[in-house]
Amino acid sequence: MNIDGRPWRTIWLEPDGRAVGVIDQTRLPHAFETRRLDSLETAAAAIRTMVVRGAPLIGVTGAYGLMLALQADPSDDALVAAEATLLATRPTAVNLAWALERTRRRVQALPPGERAAAAAAEAAAIADEDVAMCEAIGDHGLAEFRRLHGALPPGRRGQPLQVLTHCNAGWLATVDWGTALAPIYKAHRAGLPVHVWVDETRPRNQGASLTAYELGREGVPHTVIVDNAGGHLMQHGQVDAVIVGTDRTTRRGDVCNKIGTYLKALAAHDNGVPFYVALPSSTIDWTLEDGLAEIPIEARAAEEVTHIQGTGAAGDLVSVRLTPGPSPAFNPAFDVTPARLVTALITERGLAAASEEGLRRLYG
Ligand code: MRU
Repeated sequence: MNIDGRPWRTIWLEPDGRAVGVIDQTRLPHAFETRRLDSLETAAAAIRTMVVRGAPLIGVTGAYGLMLALQADPSDDALVAAEATLLATRPTAVNLAWALERTRRRVQALPPGERAAAAAAEAAAIADEDVAMCEAIGDHGLAEFRRLHGALPPGRRGQPLQVLTHCNAGWLATVDWGTALAPIYKAHRAGLPVHVWVDETRPRNQGASLTAYELGREGVPHTVIVDNAGGHLMQHGQVDAVIVGTDRTTRRGDVCNKIGTYLKALAAHDNGVPFYVALPSSTIDWTLEDGLAEIPIEARAAEEVTHIQGTGAAGDLVSVRLTPGPSPAFNPAFDVTPARLVTALITERGLAAASEEGLRRLYG
């Protein structure tokens, strides 16, 4: 994606090969700042504190985190300990476990002296593959958007396709392009008119902060709405499609994504609005079937609910309290949308029904 005319990825190996660069997503949209991650500890902290976030991106960061750990200590014990440290940072997105296991398997049979370089190569390959998968998701999603746009009622022919999205499943959540936002970028670049309703996505406001930022930089027409507005808009015919990303999708097509996704799927179902989930195959957890029973849901700090972050009059980042001091708060970060509420999964290999049969048809 382009920021002020310069193409960026969300993560890169620094020229000295001793550190990884990332965009600090806790500062967006107020400030565009990069961070240098130069150790296992700084990589793990970046994932935990959401300097980097989004399932595919935390997977790539995890793989580079193993590289950083191996640069300091290439022993078997250090490799095992580093994988455990990184895995513990965020439990829900399966991309993290997948990328860590893939990188560990790639390096563990090598002599210690060769491991860090092999981990770097594997992390770079995971990043490049993620870009390719996301771009392919964009192409498949664009074809579906063209179909929906062509089917708009006569009174709306040629008008923008109204798409609602939740959280941030865009460029910032991946390495480039995004998952749910890739078809939107493809549509915009292809001249297919599209307007995006952006759920603010409390408590951390990834929609209001990150999705709105991305879409604005790409010039995609969009409007930020509070999370509770989506159902109302759907009842009034103002949403043609919902598209979201996912942190883990089970083999039968249950979709775990940012808290609040389930309510959007229910509203979409009630109003006959198609509900799409865009995902690379690295987000499918083939070991799980029942998403509600089996996917670990991250509980994050109560302060994310009791407080909200923004800029003060001087442009400085401030956090203000919303709730009465004594009121407890609970902060589950993800929920599960059952497969029956999902119109289709949009993958790098095309559209699939949200079912084991549908996924196996694409992935064998
Ligand atoms: O808590 P976050 O910001 O990491 O949650 C991100 C999401 O829920 C995304 O929708 C998901 O990771 C898919 S990213 C392409």
